[in-house]
Amino acid sequence: MEIIILPTDLDVAGKAADAIEEQVRSGPTNLGLATGLTPLATYQELIERHRTGGLSFANTKAFLLDEYVGLPATHPQSYHSVIRREFTGRVDFRADAVHGLKGTAADLAAEAERYENVLEASGGVDIQILGIGTDGHVGFNEPMSSLASRTRIKTLTQGTRQDNARFFEDGEAVPDHVLTQGLGTILSARHLLLLAVGESKAEAVAAAVEGPVAAVCPASALQLHPHVTVIIDEAAASLLNHREYYLDTFTRKPAWQGL
Ligand code: PGA
Repeated sequence: MEIIILPTDLDVAGKAADAIEEQVRSGPTNLGLATGLTPLATYQELIERHRTGGLSFANTKAFLLDEYVGLPATHPQSYHSVIRREFTGRVDFRADAVHGLKGTAADLAAEAERYENVLEASGGVDIQILGIGTDGHVGFNEPMSSLASRTRIKTLTQGTRQDNARFFEDGEAVPDHVLTQGLGTILSARHLLLLAVGESKAEAVAAAVEGPVAAVCPASALQLHPHVTVIIDEAAASLLNHREYYLDTFTRKPAWQGL
């Protein structure tokens, strides 16, 4: 696990965009996308590089991590809509190249299985963007999610529902249930980029990076993956015990090594 601590949230977005750009420019890419506030600055940066730097997503397929149960794709807060509005609809993805879960499927277990099959048939995700919840969730794998879980239905914690209430209109309820890639699904991606900014994430980041691998902090499962890059700002890094070591390692990183 490489931990990169940068001064600001914009630096985090720039570094994440560098990793994604390098992957996308290397050839056809399966890109795993996350929603939430954290990756928005990265998407902005990628949109900018598309507009001014010739970065093209025409050979890239996108795969979403999760979706609210019960929200039709047309609902403004469905992750289907959010990702199109914030990123994929503003660059040159092909319309049929963006894959996600259908939150209104009549048979949710069958929908989860369908998505696992889509991911497998695609050859798997090359680079996966991840945020982290204040409770340590990745995707919507809440505490006590099986570390081996695959795509399935989950019940959101009340804390996550409160965290996400800011995205919904006044009085509109955040759904109780979601479909989410499992931790085992996420760990199948070849490169994981975990992004976090702000003090509110410091505790979850410390538990994920320096705590034991434990289902109580689902993001700690990333310690089992051979290629994880954690990119965080100083505020999100503020509770790490080995901060100096991470800074020193990054400063002295061999130039040839890449992310
Ligand atoms: P956020 O959410 O980026 O909106 O903070 C992260 C998450 O819940 O995974």
